[in-house]
Amino acid sequence: MMNEALERVARKFESDFGTKPELILRSPGRINLIGEHTDYNMGFVVPSAIDKSVYFAFRKNGRDEHRLVAADPAQKVAFPVSGFQKGEHFWAHFLQGGLWKLDQEGHQPGGVDVVFGSDLPIGAGLSSSSALSCGFLEGMNLLFGFEISRFDIAMLGHFAEREYVGLKGGIMDQFANMLSKPDHFILLDCRSKEYTHHQLIMDEYDIILINTCVEHKLTESDYNTRSAESARAAEIIRDRYPEVRSLRDVSLEMAGEMKNQLGDVLYRRAMYVIRENRRVLDTIQACHRNDYKKVGENLFASHAGLRDEYEVSCKELDFLVDQAMSTEGVLGARMMGGGFGGCTINLLEKKVRDHFVRRTLNLYRQEFGIEAQLIPVRLTGSTEVI
Ligand code: GLA
Repeated sequence: MMNEALERVARKFESDFGTKPELILRSPGRINLIGEHTDYNMGFVVPSAIDKSVYFAFRKNGRDEHRLVAADPAQKVAFPVSGFQKGEHFWAHFLQGGLWKLDQEGHQPGGVDVVFGSDLPIGAGLSSSSALSCGFLEGMNLLFGFEISRFDIAMLGHFAEREYVGLKGGIMDQFANMLSKPDHFILLDCRSKEYTHHQLIMDEYDIILINTCVEHKLTESDYNTRSAESARAAEIIRDRYPEVRSLRDVSLEMAGEMKNQLGDVLYRRAMYVIRENRRVLDTIQACHRNDYKKVGENLFASHAGLRDEYEVSCKELDFLVDQAMSTEGVLGARMMGGGFGGCTINLLEKKVRDHFVRRTLNLYRQEFGIEAQLIPVRLTGSTEVI
């Protein structure tokens, strides 16, 4: 069955370009079970692609220009294949960033016509940006036969976002987009880039997202502040322990010893990252033992750290996690992604799901006057031709 977003994209392509596309791609968003703000600290993350995606339709147009169309809302940009300027629409920067990066790597594609549309909520922390950049790059890769590996597309997408768009994220999102496997989470070591896939046997349990539907301003500058604070904390600890390259290398004892030099804020940032990396590894072991109670406890502990030590939560996220904590059958919950809004991820018994969601959405409405949104998710494979 054709999904609605995909249908819109296919229809728009035919009406705008008068022909059928050569290639259609699904490029997924991602969730992250645990390991938040650890990727740029060279630690561990546990993401997976999901069944909410950006859909792309492509064809080579035989011209010296690219014509890119967003289906929803309808917006169009066209620019020459070489020597282009940053477009007026922000979404176009992700696609142009890919072209710019391809050029740096010695790949010169001809002109393309592209339409994209999505059923991925924007601003919910599900990484629509990497779905855009990696999906576009993979489309160009396949269309022009560049034979770039999935791993390298993830890396190109990462650098395109950092260097061209100016988003200073880690590598988690692009990896999830390009290297996921259906029904599995990825355990990714963000330093070595080694990764393994892990399946959760979830017969009795479910993972759902609840979107706060708020996005607080300053997200980006706060994100960059946290990343700078982490780097500074590692630098201070390096004075005593020269082998430390990032917070990944710091133990609780080392941070404890350097508490005075770090000061309250940097000490708390460091403790969060150290503990979160431990929680990730502990969670993977718990998954292998089918110990979902432990997985859930780690999710709650992760949220407490993100709220109190790393300070990237907000009252709406805290409220949703408090509801999860006080509901029998909800094993764990935490804020997910960069923070300051977006979604919580909840691990719960299937049988309490409807009751929990109904009650939580009601209480949330009473508290904030905002409709929160249930986002059911399935773990899927990565960007693929359909
Ligand atoms: C954003 C970034 C990711 C990661 C998360 C926090 O989603 O894009 O690289 O840092 O925040 O875990």
